[in-house]
Amino acid sequence: MTTLVRLASELDFAGWRTAARALRLNGVAPDQVAWTVGREAELYADAEPLPQAPETAAFAAPRAFLALAEALSMHRAPERFALAYRLLWRLAGQPNLLSLITDPEVERANRMAREVERAAYRMKQYVRFRKVADEAGGEAYIAWIEPEHRALARAAPFFVDRFANMAWAILTPDQTVRWRDGALEFGPGAPREAAPKDDELEAMWRTYFASTFNPARLKVKAMTTQMPKRLWRNLPEAELIPSMIAQAARRSDAMVANPPSEPARRTARAIQRKVRDAPYDDGYRPNSTQEVWAAVDACRRCELWRNATQGVAGEGPARAALMLVGEQPGDQEDLAGKPFVGPAGQLLNRALEEAGVPRDLTYVTNAVKHFKFEPRGKRRIHAKPNAGEIRACRWWLDSERRLVKPKVIVALGATAGQAVFGHAVSVMKDRGAPESLGDGATGLLTVHPSYMLRIPDEADKARAYALFVQDLKQAWSLAA
Ligand code: URA
Repeated sequence: MTTLVRLASELDFAGWRTAARALRLNGVAPDQVAWTVGREAELYADAEPLPQAPETAAFAAPRAFLALAEALSMHRAPERFALAYRLLWRLAGQPNLLSLITDPEVERANRMAREVERAAYRMKQYVRFRKVADEAGGEAYIAWIEPEHRALARAAPFFVDRFANMAWAILTPDQTVRWRDGALEFGPGAPREAAPKDDELEAMWRTYFASTFNPARLKVKAMTTQMPKRLWRNLPEAELIPSMIAQAARRSDAMVANPPSEPARRTARAIQRKVRDAPYDDGYRPNSTQEVWAAVDACRRCELWRNATQGVAGEGPARAALMLVGEQPGDQEDLAGKPFVGPAGQLLNRALEEAGVPRDLTYVTNAVKHFKFEPRGKRRIHAKPNAGEIRACRWWLDSERRLVKPKVIVALGATAGQAVFGHAVSVMKDRGAPESLGDGATGLLTVHPSYMLRIPDEADKARAYALFVQDLKQAWSLAA
């Protein structure tokens, strides 16, 4: 006999929780349950009503599972509530179920949760507020967006953070959220017409967007998170998009050399599925630098992935006698998915050439794999990774070291030094002194290439550059 659950709305996670608890405590198996929303229940005329949960029975689901179930509840797939209940049911016999990331149901649930996260991320990127007069004659801002999943609750804290002093509302077909006088209020969905269409902000957005449109971002993003056309409709700048895309290929060629091939992308996606959301102590070890490259994008060991375009792993031969470690990808590296391609990279290339070190024989990487920045107007200003972020990312650097087996590792700057040597270093004091590292490699510390870029005086700059070239020569001869 089927037991009928009636949820109040598509987003009724609280209702799901209550029902799932009652079902579990009464031993109702997943295949005996029909999860319905609103009037769908009418299709199940003969179903059993939901049993009550015994009042005294105790039952606690693991926190990680509840977080997963809540994310699932925001997904648009009709089977999400049933899938969440199946996992809860199976957890009774397999407490470690969620760590079995190749289990088809766990994998599916994780993928769906990621899709919800991505929908929330896109909302943060593509919500555009329009100014209106509020009831009291003041200013308020309203945005309309059709997210791919019902992820508004996930995205709302971001807007509270950014626009704490404004009154605003975000309307979606499923749900609305309003921020006013320091309080966040969720309500039912709203039609598109409820948000104003035109106002003076649109022209500004259009200008802003055209000037910041980055063809490289279009290409790189297309790999995993291309903005669906459905979202374009919400953007005042949407009318500019087709012509900019038409020009993008030509312009981006100059900005991004050799994007990964299609088979590499397929491998990448498979590995990313394996890494993302996996517990990090489950014995997973990348088997190749190609795998590191693919997997790093899925890393969630710290929060930096949230704002970066992608993870940027090292680049170079699978085995190399010399490894160069920088701090973190910069703006251009973040877009291109490759280390040291921006201004610091160009200086590094020049210095390597002068030192007689072929860059394509060295493995070039960073201590931290996601770009950390502060948005300032249209620009993304580099922000220094903190000790926790360096520590979290060291797992990747250690993987690269284990695989590439360099004889010599050059740390470019103090952040890289901290990651390579495992303790705080001073570039002024420790520069150029070879130190044996635990894995048999020799570590050398030098300045970061961007240090030279910041020196205003040309003579000082030239001196610093010459010393840098010297350090690279020393490293190359030690690696020979
Ligand atoms: N600076 C770094 O430390 N690494 C890069 O990849 C680019 C700039």
